[in-house]
Amino acid sequence: MSVKENTKAFKELICEGIPDFLPETRPYDPETNHAPKRKEILTPAEKKLAIENALRYFDPKFHPILAPEFYKELNDYGRIYMLRFRPSYEMYARPISEYPAQTKHAAAIMLMIQNNLDPNVAQHPHELITYGGNGAVFQNWAQYLLTMKYLSEMGDEQTLVMYSGHPLGLFPSNKNAPRVVVTNGMMVPNYSKPDDWEKYNALGVTQYGQMTAGSYMYIGPQGIVHGTTITVLNAGRKISKNGEGLEGKLFVTSGLGGMSGAQPKAGNIAGCVSVTSEINPKAAYKRHEQGWVDEIIDNMPELVTRVKLAKANKEVVSIAFIGNTVDVWEQFYAEGIFVELGSDQTSLHNPWAGGYYPAGHTYEEANQLMVDNPERFKEFVQESLKRQATAINKHAEKGTYFFDYGNAFLLEAGRAGADVMSDDGLTFKYSSYVQDIVGPMCFDYGFGPFRWVCGSGKDSDLEKTDAIAARVLELMKENSPEEIQQQLGDNIRWIKAAGKNKMVVGSKARILYADGEGRVKIAKAFNEAIALGEIGPIILGRDHHDVSGTDSPYRETSNIYDGSQFTADMAVQNFVGDAFRGATWVSLHNGGGVGWGEVINGGFGMLLDGSASSEKKLKSMLHWDVNNGIARRSWARNDEAIFAIKRAMEEESKLKVTIPNKVNQDILDQL
Ligand SMILES: NC(=O)c1ccc[n+]([C@@H]2O[C@H](COP(=O)([O-])OP(=O)(O)OC[C@H]3O[C@@H](n4cnc5c(N)ncnc54)[C@H](O)[C@@H]3O)[C@@H](O)[C@H]2O)c1
Repeated sequence: MSVKENTKAFKELICEGIPDFLPETRPYDPETNHAPKRKEILTPAEKKLAIENALRYFDPKFHPILAPEFYKELNDYGRIYMLRFRPSYEMYARPISEYPAQTKHAAAIMLMIQNNLDPNVAQHPHELITYGGNGAVFQNWAQYLLTMKYLSEMGDEQTLVMYSGHPLGLFPSNKNAPRVVVTNGMMVPNYSKPDDWEKYNALGVTQYGQMTAGSYMYIGPQGIVHGTTITVLNAGRKISKNGEGLEGKLFVTSGLGGMSGAQPKAGNIAGCVSVTSEINPKAAYKRHEQGWVDEIIDNMPELVTRVKLAKANKEVVSIAFIGNTVDVWEQFYAEGIFVELGSDQTSLHNPWAGGYYPAGHTYEEANQLMVDNPERFKEFVQESLKRQATAINKHAEKGTYFFDYGNAFLLEAGRAGADVMSDDGLTFKYSSYVQDIVGPMCFDYGFGPFRWVCGSGKDSDLEKTDAIAARVLELMKENSPEEIQQQLGDNIRWIKAAGKNKMVVGSKARILYADGEGRVKIAKAFNEAIALGEIGPIILGRDHHDVSGTDSPYRETSNIYDGSQFTADMAVQNFVGDAFRGATWVSLHNGGGVGWGEVINGGFGMLLDGSASSEKKLKSMLHWDVNNGIARRSWARNDEAIFAIKRAMEEESKLKVTIPNKVNQDILDQL
């Protein structure tokens, strides 16, 4: 029994689903970080349709009460969250054995869903938003309740079908099929503009699942710390003139939200001074309390003095500035503070609805304006982006290495008319972190954000899995080629320090960049340890931001240069291929990271229970899940991927991939 509550009551409540009585209304909790009010988008007739849609979940006898209540929510918040139905029990990932389920696979999914909605993990927990401002697990609480009920009932020959948060139902399938198939935001292509999300989400028929929110695979900012550390570390290597590290160098960026909150920690691990601006004080204090950022400063003069001192003393320190990032870029230039590394992690995938706060306006003013006068708000955002880009350009002239953090900063700044294009007019002045760093150094070799969660909920299991993973990587490093020695070395250092860095928020989870070989070997070793009773069940997964999972021309596939970066075959093939190779659940999303309509991405979850069946599935699925992307990157003529796929073919005789023929540039020049 959990110490936090009476487990029996919890189990009964899960099995009950949507209650057959009306629970008490829940007061608005001002202490919680709430989603911004979404803009008015529906016509009066469409609002009625939204209410009709919402009432589908409830017995008609409750409609007279719920109809005006939901109508009020729609008017007050721009969405119907069905707040009265938010469960009374605490929301957090319980040990897998505490879930009422017919199959452990369903219990694993329930654990991950609760983790994604845990107030310590989720950005706007009452609105069912995990991260990124609009990354939803469900659209409303009725969907949550019904999904958990279905999961508690499902057997291992049934599959739950999830349409953008809505559980369509349990369908007969077979033991080897995924237990859950999730799609989020799949639209007929012409209906994928940002306002289409606003409208169809307000109607209650689709949602923005981000990457790991709507696929139940978010593990808090730790998931991103590792990738961010790799990025900052390698950005540091790029600017290093004599092999020196980042001591005394300054990294200026913004955002202390879901993913961006990892930046200060990554800056510390990489060994620099970092300044991360955050306009929302609640977000900044939350990260400070969690120990993710060392110091908080809310006024510019103090910030300037502190940063000068930290640089002079070569301190390793992370500073959160409560204010607008534009002011920091401008003021640091005026003060002559040299910024060695720069980036931005505001949520520009969602520029008009709270993802980016324009300079010159307080947080509250901006929130009001985006609802009262969305057109004017958009103009302010665009002016602010132009100011920010101008300031960054001035720093870059002095030698700052600025990189786009895959948040659509350059895309939106360019659209706003900022001077961010190169002379050829086709590409941006600055590279994205994928083009320069993560693409060629990681994804093309198959390295990506593999992760696992300990189903037991025990710290000791996490320690044991860390040790197992470190052992596997060390053995691999002894016999691996020169090309991947540095990556393996970085990852071994990471996993050995991971426990000490205390990054767990929510479930007992670990992230580790690993390649195809590493993922299979680590997973196999976990499965063996489970079979021996050394650890409990393990849930495997990954970020969608990976080798094969995501087609996104300005991010994951921005280092694909054969034109296919605008296609999405890879992500769709990956989702389908994972499904029939043994994933416990699979997901496919429109929009994630860079915005609705800008990306297709998918992922999986897989429960390891120590069985022979788990071993068979992990080998088959993880191999595909990495090599699909390497093969595509190789076909796009990326040398690192050609190297990696040839190596994979040597290891596995059943793998046969078409290798591209390269053309001598002279032949093309003669055309
Ligand atoms: N970390 C990564 O590895 C990674 C990778 C790819 C893309 N991204 C992108 O980074 C963005 C951020 O992700 P997130 O999950 O942290 O989103 P988030 O919405 O949780 O956090 C963004 C934060 O930026 C703050 N902010 C907005 N405008 C600001 C401004 N002008 N000045 C100062 N602060 C401002 C917001 O208040 C918010 O807290 C997203 O677009 C995401 O897709 C991150």
